[in-house]
Amino acid sequence: MVTVNQQRVPRKRTYLMCSPEHFAVEYAINPWMDVATPVDRELAVKQWDRLRETLVGLGHEVHLLTPEPGLPDMVYAANGALMVDGSVYGARFKHEQRAAEAAAHRAFYESQGWRFIAPSETNEGEGDFAYVPEAHGGLILAGHGFRTEIPAHAEAQEALGRPVVSLHLIDPRFYHLDVALTVLDDSNIAYFPGAFSAASQRVLAQLFPAAVIADDADAMAFGLNLVSDGANVVLNSEATGLAGTLKAAGYTPVPVELAELKKGGGSVKCCIAELRH
Ligand code: ARG
Repeated sequence: MVTVNQQRVPRKRTYLMCSPEHFAVEYAINPWMDVATPVDRELAVKQWDRLRETLVGLGHEVHLLTPEPGLPDMVYAANGALMVDGSVYGARFKHEQRAAEAAAHRAFYESQGWRFIAPSETNEGEGDFAYVPEAHGGLILAGHGFRTEIPAHAEAQEALGRPVVSLHLIDPRFYHLDVALTVLDDSNIAYFPGAFSAASQRVLAQLFPAAVIADDADAMAFGLNLVSDGANVVLNSEATGLAGTLKAAGYTPVPVELAELKKGGGSVKCCIAELRH
């Protein structure tokens, strides 16, 4: 375990978010979604705004993607791409209902003049890809099992020139990597082992012996679906257990309430893509 007095240093980040102006639960493509549960869109926008303000308050820059009617999941901006050192590997959504989001993300990245690599394989961006900049010179962790397909892992490696480590997700509640694993700082991660196959658990233990280990309750509270700047960890307010664990490891938990967006099967990280330009 990490010691209490460890000094954590924040690094300024650039993020991309998309307002839940058109958020709804109109279809169910993950076990958290229930079309019979009413969604309070106004409250969703309020909670999302608080999240955006929290990031800005921590000194980060937030770019905004224009939400589009008819794309109720567009608020989950993490799914649109994976960006590493100025290069962008685009998303290709598994479900039809979200397919059109990819073009909106592509248009944004291209408008910034960044190198964009269009995918031919199914992948959901930072939903299933996580980047650890200082691990082995820059490592991409990649989930498969529910959304992103294994060939996309190889495609991402070719697009971005970083080694990609494939991890097998086995629990449908944790259908994206970013609900089971998170990057805490430039070299360390936190994860819930139970979301992964036994072999993938072994791979993670070998690569990250100092990782923060989360439990089922942390993961169920969407605690791992967090965004960290290396010191400040913005996470779902329901994840009180994980907040305590992270505090003991020297991080500063910053809880935010995102109950409405949980109804779509997402929390903090799902709403935020990191722009590593
Ligand atoms: N309703 C969305 C879906 O099932 C939620 C996506 C959450 N995003 C994430 N990065 N885990 O696709």
